[in-house]
Amino acid sequence: MILLNGKEASAEIRAELNLRAAQFEREHGKKAGLAVVLIGNDPASEVYVRNKIRGCEETGIRSMTHRLPEETTMEEALALLAALSADRDVHGILVQLPLPAHLNAERLLEAIPPEKDVDGFLPENVGRLALKKEGTVACTPQGVMELLRRYHVPIAGKRAVVVGRSNIVGRPMAMLLLNADATVTVCHSKTENLKEECLRADLLVAAIGKAKFITADMVKEGAVVVDVGMNRDQDNKLCGDVDFDAVKEKAAYLTPVPGGVGPMTIAMLLKNTLDAAERIETQDNV
Ligand code: GUN
Repeated sequence: MILLNGKEASAEIRAELNLRAAQFEREHGKKAGLAVVLIGNDPASEVYVRNKIRGCEETGIRSMTHRLPEETTMEEALALLAALSADRDVHGILVQLPLPAHLNAERLLEAIPPEKDVDGFLPENVGRLALKKEGTVACTPQGVMELLRRYHVPIAGKRAVVVGRSNIVGRPMAMLLLNADATVTVCHSKTENLKEECLRADLLVAAIGKAKFITADMVKEGAVVVDVGMNRDQDNKLCGDVDFDAVKEKAAYLTPVPGGVGPMTIAMLLKNTLDAAERIETQDNV
């Protein structure tokens, strides 16, 4: 089994991004800027946001964190997003999900201008992905593709099975694999014969959000297995959606958790932010 080492791959990507960030600052007299909006007290979100901010600092991207309390109203959140949208030093806006239940996530996200949508969550960018047009692609699925590319994992013509259909991972993941000419199946909580579907996969992407959900009997010998999960097991230890110790005996390639997809997500966020900053600043100059 070959470990798909996201920590290593992301370090290579980030070395390139550091140079790009420095060049951006030289050319434009300011840093690329990312605004991170965190509403409420979701403990996982706290960790994700901390890692994103650290990534910005290490790369030479200016990050601005806006922490709002759980009881924030739509009006307050929309006012903040309007200010960030108009701020010429903010090139990317990230609203960390999930949001408190009383807020309308869709309406909030749509207050972000598409050119500052570094998460690639807006209908404009999702539509572009669906049509295989250039646009901003969601960080986690984009990171998975980049990891596979760096390990020369073939995708065209292969049978890919994505387990999970979230807007953040499953759907864009399926679209990216389709755009790369895989034969794509998307499984979810209502799928019948899930095990049989998974067993057919040359490439299996697990994005379910349940600890060790994918067991060895669901994996074909020699398959490529990508674990997008980030869960805690009974001993409160970090683990993915894949039963790593069992599946490693069958998979040809496998991502670890942590150190697989997670660091690739951060690298793609930094890349999307630099892309947005370069696009915005050069558009302004014409
Ligand atoms: N919550 C879980 N993953 C993500 C992500 O990639 N972006 C945002 N904004 N929220 C998330």
